[in-house]
Formats: sequence, structure tokens, C-alpha cells
Amino acid sequence: MAIDPDELKTLVDWENGQISPRIFIDEEIYRQELAQVFDRAWLFLAHDSMIPEPNDFFSTYMGGDPVIVSRLADGSVTAFLNACRHRGMKVCRAEDGNAKSFMCTYHGWTYDNEGKLINVPMSEEAYLGDLDYSQNGLLKVAQIDSYRGLHFATFDPEAPPLLDYLGDMTFYLDSFLDQTPGGIEFLPGVIKWTIHGNWKMGAEQFGGDAYHAVITHASSFGAYNKRRDRDSNMGEQAALREGHTTGYSLAGTKSELRDILRHEDGEHQPSDDWEAEKLAIAEQRLGPERAKLRGHMNVFPNFSGLPGQANLRIWHPKGPNKFEIWSFTVVDKDAPDEVKRGTQLSATVTEGAAGVVESDDGENWDLIGQLLEQGHRTREMKWNYTMGIGKEDRMHAGFPGKLSRTIMSEGPQRAFYRRWLEFMTSAKWPYTPKSAQAAPNGTGSATVSEHAR
Ligand code: FES
Ligand code: FE
Repeated sequence: MAIDPDELKTLVDWENGQISPRIFIDEEIYRQELAQVFDRAWLFLAHDSMIPEPNDFFSTYMGGDPVIVSRLADGSVTAFLNACRHRGMKVCRAEDGNAKSFMCTYHGWTYDNEGKLINVPMSEEAYLGDLDYSQNGLLKVAQIDSYRGLHFATFDPEAPPLLDYLGDMTFYLDSFLDQTPGGIEFLPGVIKWTIHGNWKMGAEQFGGDAYHAVITHASSFGAYNKRRDRDSNMGEQAALREGHTTGYSLAGTKSELRDILRHEDGEHQPSDDWEAEKLAIAEQRLGPERAKLRGHMNVFPNFSGLPGQANLRIWHPKGPNKFEIWSFTVVDKDAPDEVKRGTQLSATVTEGAAGVVESDDGENWDLIGQLLEQGHRTREMKWNYTMGIGKEDRMHAGFPGKLSRTIMSEGPQRAFYRRWLEFMTSAKWPYTPKSAQAAPNGTGSATVSEHAR
């Protein structure tokens, strides 16, 4: 049974920065989240470079549902549920590959890589000619589209176009995806691991929590003789009305992940030359400020990354208190091979499953999950999301969103939970700024009354 919207609103008081941890552990809320958030939002599937050839496929999830992303012979990309129409078995158990068809290993129904049912064993004897193949294809996503090589899909035919959904986030995404003419490339292999916690802990941290780094990562930064100087704290957080969030340094510092393997003697590395070359190109394309953005981001609901630091990831929900991290190492397509190899090594040592930085974060999320699972009082108290409240008033010419005065702010988290609450409590598609502008009557698909940024 659906949870009363008024009850959910008391749990998520984003305006006053008071949020109940029940949203991270409650089974009913989780089931509603799968239906209201993951079944409607545009979700990241794969990048072009992961499925470059005709018939390439990649197995992923949309919320809790397994999905196959498939490149067809004509170069287009489609996606459908990886669940057989006969008894719901996965028709593809490989993580990725190249295939023109998928045969279910239960009774052998076979589908082409567009999802059409093409063969049923003993069809005539078993169904006596009554099985309509055309009505038994794998269930397709309702809409699929891409932005600068990133493919997204939604199960909701009513969802606004992807560009409207991304809204102002494209401004920040471009500063990462469009630095050089070749854009980005995902290196082969996905690092996957499980955390016993709630997926939103990862999403909200990557979207806006610069605050944790000084303490949580003190030992890993210390182990590599990295000191966080005052410049590391120069920057701002951007909270977008669409629920997407980001934060970035304005100091123009180099990638901490790449630098972490470098000891203080500052020896020259091949990446230095590439960084300098790239910066000159990026400044031409993006302007001097955006060319230097380094930080963290979350595209609502569960697609995160560290722009400028070689890592993108999906937080796949696996239950109220369990999620999988799927981590991708991302490089500049135009970078020399030596730099790509160095980036992969550095990213694995720092942000891989057992990476020195990553394991700091995982320990926090896992321990919080344990407390919420076992405790009663720990579930009942409200968590404090008040940092920077009422002070998101910074102007930065041309930079969209509500901007914080410093990089320490929980404005992004409040924006994330505001959007989450809208999805959870709206019967129709929640308000989306760009769609509202496009609608003839100016109201778009709004179902909430307060639209102001
Ligand atoms: Fe797939 Fe029976 S479940 S063929
Ligand atoms: Fe961290």
C-alpha cells in the first residue's frame, strides 16, 4: 500500500534540513521508490564506447530491474527488460558481449537483439499454433536517448525529453564531457561491489558532500603525503531545481586522484603534458573557468561521478539496505595511451572497490546501514541537513543553480531530497523546469505548486 504523501513530507523536511533515516531503511518506502522514482526517471545505461560495434550489448539495471542495452546493426541503440516473457528468467546472464540473439536457458525461448521473440522450441506441438510471437517480445523501455555519448532510458512514456530532464545539468556535464573534440571514453571493465547501506547515501555524498573529505579521507590522503590546503576548500556547490547537483573547486587544481600516486618530490609524469595540452584546448571550447572545474556530481537519481577525476558510477539499489556500486574508469578519448593506462592504475588504487579512498566511504555507509537495521532510536531521530541553509545566494555569472557561499554546504542534498520527495508523492510526472517553459500554458506537467528556484 502506498505511503501517505503527508507522512512522507514529515519524514523529508528538506526546507528545514530535517530528514528521517527511515527513508534509508524502510521496506515500504523502498518499494515505493522503485515504482515512483526508478520506474519514471531517466536512468543512465551505458556510454557509446562500451558498445561500439553492431550487436554489442551491455547488461545493467534500471532500479531493481535487469536491462539489456543493445546496439543494432544500423548503429542505433535500444534497451529492453532482461526477463523472459514465459516465466521471467533472465535471457542473458553475461555482463556484456556481442550477440544477435539471446536464448533463455529455462525453456529456450529466443529473442533477437531488438527484443523480438524469434524462436520457441516445439512451438507447434506445445502451443498448437496459438502463440502470437509479436505479443511476446521482451519489454522495451518507453524512451531512450543519449547526451554526448551517454545513453539514458526511462520506463515512463510520459517522461519529458532527456534534455529537459537534464536541464541545467548539461552546463556542468559539458565541462567534463566536452573538454576535447573526442570527448570521454569508458575504459573496458566495470568494478562492481556491494555495500550494506542505502543507495541514497552514495548519491547524496557524491552530489554534495565535500565536507566529509577532510576527516573521512584523512588517513588515505595522509598515506600519500597529500595535504589539503586552503585552496582545496575554494569552490561552490550547485543545487539544480531538477534534483541534479554538483560541487567543484575553482582553484584549478589538478585531479587529486591522479596526483595521489605522486609523492611530494613532484616527479614529472606523462599526464602533466596531457593536462597542459588539454587545458589549452578546453579553454577554447569552454572558457577559462569551466575548463578547470574539478569536483563531484550526481545526476538524479543514481548516476554519479567525479568530473575531472576519471570516475563515473551508478548506485544500483538492491533493497532498502543494500546497493551495488558499478564504477567506470573514464579517460579523455584523445589522451595518449600511456596517460590512459596511468589513469586506470591510479583510479583503481584510489577509487576501486578496495581503493584507499573508496574504502573510507564504504565503511561509513556500511556502518550507518548496520545501525539503522539493528536500532530503534537510531531510526527515530532526525538527521541534520541544515548546513548553509538560507545562504545559497551566491551569484556566479553564467553558472546555473542555487550556489553556496563555500564548498561546504548541504544545499545539494536538500535539492536532491526535494526532488526525491516530488517523485515519491506525485501521481503525474513531477515538475520539470524546461518542460514547463516549453508547455503552451506555461504549466508543463507540474503537480507541485511551488516552482521557484
Ligand atoms: Fe524463458 Fe521459459 S522462462 S523460456
Ligand atoms: Fe569520499
